Amino acid sequence: MDEDYMGLALDLAKKGKGKVNPNPLVGAVIVKDGKVIGKGYHERYGKEHAEINAFNSLKEDPKGATMYITLEPCSHYGKTPPCVDKIIEKNIRRVVIGSVDDNPLVSGKGIEKLKDAGIEVTVGILEDECKRLNEVFIKYISEKKPFVVLKSAMSLDGKISTYSGESKWITGENSRKEVHKLRNELTGILVGVDTVIKDNPKLTCRLENGRNPIRIIVDSTLRIPMSSEVIRDGKVRTIIATTEFADKDKILELEKKEIEVIIAKSKNNRVDLKDLMMKLYELNIDSILLEGGATLNFSALKENIVDKIQIYIAPKIIGGEKSKTPVGGQGIEELKKAFKIKDITSRVVGEDILLEGYIDKE
Ligand SMILES: NC(=O)c1ccc[n+]([C@@H]2O[C@H](COP(=O)([O-])OP(=O)(O)OC[C@H]3O[C@@H](n4cnc5c(N)ncnc54)[C@H](OP(=O)(O)O)[C@@H]3O)[C@@H](O)[C@H]2O)c1
Ligand SMILES: [Zn+2]
Repeated sequence: MDEDYMGLALDLAKKGKGKVNPNPLVGAVIVKDGKVIGKGYHERYGKEHAEINAFNSLKEDPKGATMYITLEPCSHYGKTPPCVDKIIEKNIRRVVIGSVDDNPLVSGKGIEKLKDAGIEVTVGILEDECKRLNEVFIKYISEKKPFVVLKSAMSLDGKISTYSGESKWITGENSRKEVHKLRNELTGILVGVDTVIKDNPKLTCRLENGRNPIRIIVDSTLRIPMSSEVIRDGKVRTIIATTEFADKDKILELEKKEIEVIIAKSKNNRVDLKDLMMKLYELNIDSILLEGGATLNFSALKENIVDKIQIYIAPKIIGGEKSKTPVGGQGIEELKKAFKIKDITSRVVGEDILLEGYIDKE
């Protein structure tokens, strides 16, 4: 039973995707006498927490009820008063928690306060699912860096374009739709300047009512053409990350177009990606979709900033020694140094296959 109600709370939490960053996704369900009497989730950044929305949905007194929450309730004053106080005030008898809050400032404190008030607390129901749901928040809060998802679309033989450079579209419509869903959910989208020069992409979210990610382009010397879509279309927040080698006049020119220019440290004459991640964290950017190209993808893996990969595989064979693959750069010399992927899963998306997994950082 506990798992069923927690599953319901998880489904509710997911409704906040793309709207609560950099806050966690949280869902809450209140059950009394075997009946769900209240439901809520964290709907928007800065707004009520899931628990409060669940209380607000009640039509009867929750005295003696059990409350299911995907994440440990907060016990501190943030943008809103502590949920733990409200739970105590409402005479909830038992609280079931999916996972402990990873925020070092609050971790465990909410549980303690509930127990001190004589409330029965159960922790760890559907814990893996609850943690996975908040993989972005967990990294952001505990490592103070954005969570990075490397996404690529390739043919069955691992090519992202033909030898002449044609790449639209390798995968099918369903896969492309999923990618736009991800653009809607993650806060930023990152590409290398050569992708901008060669493809002139918009990097926007083309879903109805979708939200555009913040566009982030790494460009060590500001080679980006002023005529690029990402510069011309001034409606979407755009950041260009460069180095001390950038031309000062070009910085001014870009800033006049309301493009934010970040001067990151340089490493081997290029943008130091680790430094950039720290700077993006400071801008409250909790998550990034890395969409290539191949050169940047390799650097990102080598600099260990990638957390998750998503590779769409289309049932086509392209061939060609010169046709590009998802990861370029220099590559690795010895197999034992290959970037290892763990927790891999696969699913069919339209006519394609999506492989998802996590970079094994151990
Ligand atoms: N099918 C797909 O899913 C897909 C997705 C994306 C791209 N693409 C294709 O990929 C091609 C572009 O890829 P690409 O490999 O040539 O270039 P890229 O990865 O888009 O851009 C690489 C450039 O980014 C700049 N950069 C700045 N800091 C960097 C760092 N730390 N590490 C690496 N690069 C850094 C460098 O230029 P500076 O040194 O001047 O800064 C570098 O040359 C395009 O043809 C595009 O069509 C395909
Ligand atoms: Zn709260």
